[in-house]
Amino acid sequence: MSTSTATFDTLDDLDAGQRVLVRLDLNSPIEDGEPQDNRRFERHARTVRELADAGHRIALLAHQGRPGRDDFTSLAGHAEILASSLDRDVAFVGDIYGETAVDAIEALDAGEILLLENTRMCDDELPEEVPEAKADTAFVQSLAPHFDAYVNDAYSAAHRSHASVVGFPLVVPAYAGRVMETEYEANTAIAEKEFDGRVTMVVGGTKATDVIDVMNNLGGTVDDFLLGGIAGELFLRADGAPVGFDLDPEQGLYDSQWASNHELVESMLDERREQITLATDLAYDDGGRRAEEVVADIDEKTVSYLDVGTSTAEAYADVVRDSEAVFVKGALGVFEEEPFSVGTVTVLEAIVETDCFSVVGGGDTSRAIEMYGLGEADFDHVSIAGGAYIRALTGQPLAGVEALKRS
Ligand code: 3PG
Ligand code: MG
Repeated sequence: MSTSTATFDTLDDLDAGQRVLVRLDLNSPIEDGEPQDNRRFERHARTVRELADAGHRIALLAHQGRPGRDDFTSLAGHAEILASSLDRDVAFVGDIYGETAVDAIEALDAGEILLLENTRMCDDELPEEVPEAKADTAFVQSLAPHFDAYVNDAYSAAHRSHASVVGFPLVVPAYAGRVMETEYEANTAIAEKEFDGRVTMVVGGTKATDVIDVMNNLGGTVDDFLLGGIAGELFLRADGAPVGFDLDPEQGLYDSQWASNHELVESMLDERREQITLATDLAYDDGGRRAEEVVADIDEKTVSYLDVGTSTAEAYADVVRDSEAVFVKGALGVFEEEPFSVGTVTVLEAIVETDCFSVVGGGDTSRAIEMYGLGEADFDHVSIAGGAYIRALTGQPLAGVEALKRS
């Protein structure tokens, strides 16, 4: 059994000098065909370095994009970025489980690292099937005999029932990597940890259904939900404000979400009114400058709102300063543009100043931390997961974690 968690075995349980197959999540933004460095490389490098230092022979699996999309590429460039994060050689082979891959795996010496090709180039990988079916694929059956252990570090891909995620744990002794372990512990904390003081959740981003699902699951734990983003504007619409509309039908941000979810949003407001705080002012782009409008003074929406207003940001920061735990799911505005980063950054700064337990995640929200000079160390946890983070917050099991628990 694990020494650090009763849930699944970890690297603490792995004997030294093994042949180890490791699933990472190196899925990255692709620009001009090249993967862009992001915090996933740094995070996974810690797991890989620990394994190399323990004298394991290491083969790495990861995916990039999906077939048919522009971001579906080889992992050759990923090997280079990982090598520089590790400051060690990472060999790459353009094969997943054929003879070329197997020869390269068998040639590994203790401490050597090999990255195999994009798992999604293999037909066995993607169709979502039960773990037993994935374990039965040629992909898993061909690679498994060459390994003593399987390590899943890809928490951010753990919501996918893919061969490289759920197949191997059924046929090879399986362990959670360090990223898997820390993400799992932090992201399930809100549902499982006891807090004496105020628990606050900042919910933004683009999807109203994510916000509703999070509120449904965590409504008993969270005292205050502070809303922003497109989801926040839809809640304002449900509250009677003349916002939360597409300015033209092409925009496609609000009206279709409203049509399919307005009843849910309205009943959520009815049931949890005292837990929900909505923006009282909103910011927009006025010829390249930030301008603001008080929500109560808006007669008709004529501009796109790109952030919560300054008064809202300060009110939210006050709630954060009075909290014992703060969870962030999604951004309050378009923080990538400096003038519209006020809401997101003001809240993050308040978290840094406050002695509270804090977890930040959801989409690219964590990117605001490095963009605006905040330190990752000032938060208890900064998640590198998107979909998996939302699932954890909404209390849904992750297929990859469940498979590790069975191993
Ligand atoms: C991610 O980047 O969020 C994960 O790697 C999952 O990727 P997917 O959404 O393409 O399955
Ligand atoms: Mg076990």
